[in-house]
Amino acid sequence: GDAPPPPPSSPPPGTSKRAPHSIIIGVRKGGTRALLEMLDIHPEVAAAATEVHFFDWDENYAKGLEWYRELMPYSTPRQITVEKTPGYFTSPLAPERIAAMNASIKLLLILRDPAERVVSDYTQVYFNRLESRKPVQAIENLLVRNGALNLRYKAIQRSLYDVHVRAWLQHFPLQQLHIVDGDALIRDPLPELQEVERFLNLPPRIVASNFYFNQTKGFFCLRSGGRERCLHESKGRPHAAVNATVLQQLRSFLQEHNRTFFRLVGRTFDWQ
Ligand code: A3P
Repeated sequence: GDAPPPPPSSPPPGTSKRAPHSIIIGVRKGGTRALLEMLDIHPEVAAAATEVHFFDWDENYAKGLEWYRELMPYSTPRQITVEKTPGYFTSPLAPERIAAMNASIKLLLILRDPAERVVSDYTQVYFNRLESRKPVQAIENLLVRNGALNLRYKAIQRSLYDVHVRAWLQHFPLQQLHIVDGDALIRDPLPELQEVERFLNLPPRIVASNFYFNQTKGFFCLRSGGRERCLHESKGRPHAAVNATVLQQLRSFLQEHNRTFFRLVGRTFDWQ
């Protein structure tokens, strides 16, 4: 018969758990899962399986760096460890805490059109609430209060990229922060992944045949190690149509923040 499987805690030979060399810090709904899964195609990348929430949740941070390292995947000395927790980008304490662990760590930030991100954020919360049988609201009721844009709405807060990136730039030089264009990653993932390989000093190993467009899903799916797979059905959900006037109100409000963000990072994006 077959030999019994090794106990789950025994590391594969020549591997160990190491603190991340790079962290995908966000943004929530930016395409963080797609980016991590696509990067994980690279043979020299070891990706953490779940969102760790070490630097943004006090009760986890209190458990210390050893606890954090234990949650990392086994990796060979050639590999780099990557974790993603989208909540880090908007967490006021995460930049300082990550810098305290490793001031030269490479940060990956995937962003998409901030107005589109608001709708995506709403859609995720909407489905989560449906699942747990909580009442849901129309997006317009959350976006607008007494005729004015509701700036306390969390989904809007998270789309103020300039506000959040400022905090990161107080602890890290701009060269340590690579921004992935999440809208471009949806349309054509390879060029974005190639830029990430260069940023992480990885040899180019991700190729065009690692991706194929799935008509049914309407998104690119992944092909690697003789396996084909798409992201979970919660990724790439159709968005609710938003009242055009309200959407315009949101877009005009975000414009100023976007311009400030472009100035801070020395780069522009084609957000409407
Ligand atoms: P939507 O579901 O609103 O379309 P995150 O993983 O950070 O939560 O981001 C989710 C978003 O990733 C999705 O938002 C989707 O647009 C985007 N995405 C990018 N590439 C994708 C892919 N290949 N498959 C599915 N979703 C993808």
